[in-house]
Amino acid sequence: MPESLTPRTATDEDWPAMAVLAATGFGMEWDPEEMASCRRLTTPESVVVVCDGDQVVGMSGYFDLELTVPGGAVLPMAGISFVVVAPTHRRRGVLRSMYTELHRRIADAGYPIAGLMASEAGIYGRFGYGPATVDHQLTIDRRFAQLHPDAPDPGGVRLVRADDGRAEVEEIYQRWRLRTPGGLARPATLWDDLFADRDSSRDGGTAWFGLLHPDGYVLYRVHGTTTRTVRIGEFRAVTPGAHAALWRTLLGLDLMTTVVAQTHPDDALPYLLTDSRLATTTGRSDGLWLRMMDIPAVLQARRYAADLSVVLAVRDGFRGDGGRFALQIRDGLARCTVTDSAAQVELDLDVLGSLYLGAHRASSLAAAGRLRCRDDAVVRGLDAAFVSDVPAQLGFGF
Ligand SMILES: CC(C)(COP(=O)(O)OP(=O)(O)OC[C@H]1O[C@@H](n2cnc3c(N)ncnc32)[C@H](O)[C@@H]1OP(=O)(O)O)[C@@H](O)C(=O)NCCC(=O)NCCS
Repeated sequence: MPESLTPRTATDEDWPAMAVLAATGFGMEWDPEEMASCRRLTTPESVVVVCDGDQVVGMSGYFDLELTVPGGAVLPMAGISFVVVAPTHRRRGVLRSMYTELHRRIADAGYPIAGLMASEAGIYGRFGYGPATVDHQLTIDRRFAQLHPDAPDPGGVRLVRADDGRAEVEEIYQRWRLRTPGGLARPATLWDDLFADRDSSRDGGTAWFGLLHPDGYVLYRVHGTTTRTVRIGEFRAVTPGAHAALWRTLLGLDLMTTVVAQTHPDDALPYLLTDSRLATTTGRSDGLWLRMMDIPAVLQARRYAADLSVVLAVRDGFRGDGGRFALQIRDGLARCTVTDSAAQVELDLDVLGSLYLGAHRASSLAAAGRLRCRDDAVVRGLDAAFVSDVPAQLGFGF
């Protein structure tokens, strides 16, 4: 890449051009208020641009986020966002140069882990990011859905105007995110954005409808006029009782035809129904992608479900943060140290990111050749140790 296209820190003057670049790259009008919140979440040092003369042709940055890992520990996470390269300058290494610079800054700032959401799944593996949560879409034909006689009926749900329930919603989300791997602390500016409920974020649907339970909440919109679909924007339940009570209420919306929910693959909803086929899987995608910047610190931060002693050879083709690590797990706690011992398991850094929150199994990755190990018992040991009792789920999109 020519030296003139070297990334540099963004200045105040760059932001108007960045707004044009972001709108062009994502093919959508960007609400100025959203761009302003995005900016409030960054520091000058966390945003880099690439310019060709006076044109901004590349932009990227990171937010200072907090990620919950299995067992409930919280790690500082650099959350990379608003990554765009101008269509006039694509595939010349602009993204790679911005990522090299951003990751240098992220490492210097001491973040043990970085995360992102991917526009396309083929881009970020090469930079050490693996998909770490599974976004599972369920569509329910509400007209025929009957609750199973054994389904709990604890009640306790109130209808609220979204704004009026804000304090309770924030408090419940906080409890939810601290127990859920993939949960993120939501900065005040993003709460403001959620409750601002701008037309531009409604995707043709109504304003938020709110359901509140002491241990859970739902924010949803209704789409369509003749055939009406409830699209759930956010469903957070901290107890099985809240989950069942909120679903009972949603399935009681007589004039609605279907309900669409984004959840995780272990959602108990199908078991609440007499006919589980009415909860159809209509989508499966990745949510949060993770890249470990400090492998020992990150592996030691979570709790594990089984004892294990293994040597991992982790390859990082991007920055050289990989190496050989001895991982010893006893009573749920891990000790991870650099070692010269022979490795039993070889894998790329993105694959380790996929294992971390327990949403993907070592045995599945081994079957695909992405994790290499001669001893099946070791792979089973990784499966047993990395599983999470609370299913991983992304806190919010960023
Ligand atoms: C995705 C995007 C940022 C790539 O920028 P770019 O400057 O063309 O990327 P680079 O030339 O630096 O490519 C870096 C590497 O990624 C690969 N790559 C880039 N875009 C890719 C894509 N869409 N799918 C698969 N691989 C891709 C390149 O082949 C290259 O691989 P290599 O270095 O291992 O040989 C750019 O196309 C874009 O702005 N797209 C629209 C907005 C968007 O999707 N942003 C990302 C939000 S998560």
